Amino acid sequence: TGLTTLDYGFVNTAATKSAITYIDGDQGILRYRGYPIEQLAKQSTFLEVAWLLIHGELPTADELGGFDEKIRRHTLLHEDLKRFFSALPHTAHPMAVLSSALQAMSTYYESDANPHDPDHVELTTVRMLAKLPVIAAYAHKKSVGQAFLYPDNSLSFVDNFLKLNFGNLAEPYEIDPVLSKALDLLLILHEDHEQNASTSTVRLVGSTGANLYASVSAGINALSGPLHGGANEAVLQMLGRIQESGEGVQRFVDRVKNKEDGVKLMGFGHRVYKNYDPRAKLVKESAGEVLRALGINDPLLDLAQELEQIALEDDYFKERKLYPNVDFYTGVIYKAMGFPTRMFTVLFAIGRLPGWIAHWREMNLDPQTKIGRPQQLYTGSPERPFPTR
Ligand code: CMC
Repeated sequence: TGLTTLDYGFVNTAATKSAITYIDGDQGILRYRGYPIEQLAKQSTFLEVAWLLIHGELPTADELGGFDEKIRRHTLLHEDLKRFFSALPHTAHPMAVLSSALQAMSTYYESDANPHDPDHVELTTVRMLAKLPVIAAYAHKKSVGQAFLYPDNSLSFVDNFLKLNFGNLAEPYEIDPVLSKALDLLLILHEDHEQNASTSTVRLVGSTGANLYASVSAGINALSGPLHGGANEAVLQMLGRIQESGEGVQRFVDRVKNKEDGVKLMGFGHRVYKNYDPRAKLVKESAGEVLRALGINDPLLDLAQELEQIALEDDYFKERKLYPNVDFYTGVIYKAMGFPTRMFTVLFAIGRLPGWIAHWREMNLDPQTKIGRPQQLYTGSPERPFPTR
């Protein structure tokens, strides 16, 4: 058209206005609805921040109590849906189980998932926040061959999730407050990050008029890739490989710098942060605290710290402004909690759910929203006749 500009990866193009999250990548600042992430991390809880992201203001005590109560009442999955899990191999990646089970779950709620009915949107918000963690825990249980537990609605959001993942039918489960606090913190840190690939996917799918279930399942799939949420799993695999190979951290960093076989330092670099990711700072502190409190001495944490130090002093990383991102240290904590590596990105998805919902709702309420439809620059053949046969 002559007006189209080519912008691979949307590096320079804003697709929307948004009032949810502010990031200053040069200074390493992250705020949800104006509140600094460091303050939310210390003083708030996952559900309170979820409300803040979705509704724009912190909830009153009554609002938060009502929200929590409603979420607790919606945790049960339809019994028939449990059979969905039996059709999948136990080797299935939990992220594939998560997105497909969420989509499958939506078939039970087709009649009240209208994107333009505010009551339906509210109900769907509560249902998803209540049920996605249960689906996630069942994906975990399936992968380790253990029975699914029923949710225990006497427990808080995070404690219920821990019990669903680590409890079993044979013995009582005791919640460790160290794990519960650490998981709540990690979930808060993941709650939103403005127009990242998965949130943009949720908005793009939602812009077609698709319901919240369809939009969020698409977001989960976008999150699964190793350049996005899948990085937390990839970091632990990378650390494990460095440890097993015995090649040493410096040799590995050299291979990254020489771009040998396209190897990257996973958990480093970010499209927006050209400074230390403020979330990574908080995760790093928490990793040390959690391991100390649990009495775990994980050589992978030492390895990660050594890797970070070498990278931060190296010109390759300095020139490109590559710093640890949120995914660099999370895996060490998830591992200490007992989650298998393949569950890490699922935990990211549970954390990001409020952000996806908030963006989808913001988009639907914005009168300027149009169907998302990028341009292209055509580089194919000019017109040619179909061969005569
Ligand atoms: N290791 C080595 N080199 C890197 C890395 C890395 N992790 N990240 C970027 N670079 C290099 C890249 O090769 C390029 O170098 P050159 O100019 O010589 O070609 C330069 O830095 C600029 O990188 P880019 O690929 O143009 O940056 P981007 O904004 O397109 O990509 C990124 C951002 C996050 C995809 C990328 O940094 C990356 O692949 N990191 C590793 C994966 C990762 O940790 N992802 C999680 C991101 S944070 C949480 C989330 O979103 O899930």
